Amino acid sequence: MDQGPFDFSALLPANLPPPAVRWTGSAKYNFTGGNNDADQVPVDGLIAAANAVLKREGRNLATYGLASGPQGYRPLREFLVGKLKRDAGITCTADDILIVSGSLQALDLVNGALLTRGDTVIVEQDSYQGALNRLTRLGVNAIGIPLDDGGLRVDAVAAALADCKQRGVQPKYIYTIPTVQNPTATIMSAERRAELLALSRQYGVPIVEDDCYADLIWDGKRPPAIYAMSKAGGVIHIGSFSKSIAPALRVGFIVAPWQIMSRMLPLKTDAGSGALEQMVLAEYCAPHFATHVPELRAALRAKLETLMETLAEQFGTSAEFEDPKGGIFLWVKLPDNVDTLKLYQAALKEGVAINPGPEWSTNKSRSACRLRLCFANPTKQQIREGVAILADVCRREFGVPTRIANVERARA
Ligand SMILES: Cc1ncc(COP(=O)(O)O)c(C=O)c1O
Repeated sequence: MDQGPFDFSALLPANLPPPAVRWTGSAKYNFTGGNNDADQVPVDGLIAAANAVLKREGRNLATYGLASGPQGYRPLREFLVGKLKRDAGITCTADDILIVSGSLQALDLVNGALLTRGDTVIVEQDSYQGALNRLTRLGVNAIGIPLDDGGLRVDAVAAALADCKQRGVQPKYIYTIPTVQNPTATIMSAERRAELLALSRQYGVPIVEDDCYADLIWDGKRPPAIYAMSKAGGVIHIGSFSKSIAPALRVGFIVAPWQIMSRMLPLKTDAGSGALEQMVLAEYCAPHFATHVPELRAALRAKLETLMETLAEQFGTSAEFEDPKGGIFLWVKLPDNVDTLKLYQAALKEGVAINPGPEWSTNKSRSACRLRLCFANPTKQQIREGVAILADVCRREFGVPTRIANVERARA
């Protein structure tokens, strides 16, 4: 007898995340996510690297871990040792590095090793949605610390740590994106990093440093990584090839002292990240990374200029933002009456996708009139057209901007 389709619902544990929505394609004007510039993916270089490395070492694919052990393809880790020394001032060996499936997996491993339901962590008030969502799902209390032009406000971290201590709460870690923060694009100075380290030491709270945008500073000059400045080893450093090469590759890395690395490693239960991606990246990056990244930065900067010009043209003084020193995002403030969660819904109907502020912040009311625009993936023409539509939708829904492209408009 036909009993209809099998029903899984009674079998699902209560704490599952909400069901996924089926993907119905990207918006025509997509300013969301951390996507990269399609024209800057070094396709020819990756093809040549794939050919060379597969011819030479393809038979190593017969073994889990490519004969490199559970921490990832050794030549990629060796490339990172040199790169991290040169760019971030980090002294480490290949044994201090774990290759992971994107830095999102790094966040999962850090959380798996350190957190349990009811714990407290300290985060930047405006922060990466992927990190904030994970904490919510784990039932962890995230204390959001305000940022200023110099990134995380260390005086406010000091106050939060003192308050936690008084309440008998031991925060498990401080999560920061110090080098081109997501979404504010701020860069924390070396002085501030030193102050943060001193606080971390004083209160015995480690720092999780998410540095995935560090390669994308326009002038290429960055302060040393917090990991590099730490003398006591209380820092876990996370990086990624998503922003410098391509996010679909899903290759990131963790640099951490063995005491905590050895607790994260058993939680990486996928028997190693994709081997081909690691091999191709190592082969490509060793000779080409240093020339590829400045070209990528120049292309991103040019798109950012198009975005800033178009916002000024279409929104006038209604859109407030700082000119970022790097990265792929603009964090924009609209007038207080604009609700970007509603703007998001209305704009999506017109083919424009944006990231509404409250999804990137622990402070839902302050971020209600803010939005994040990723400028890396849309073409310059899409940026111009998409922002013009966004301004039109915003005026229709919220009465601002009153001027569009320097023409005064009445509310529809
Ligand atoms: C701050 C931050 N961390 C981590 C990630 C995850 O990157 P991936 O898993 O692609 O390395 C992102 C992606 O946008 C990010 O912005």
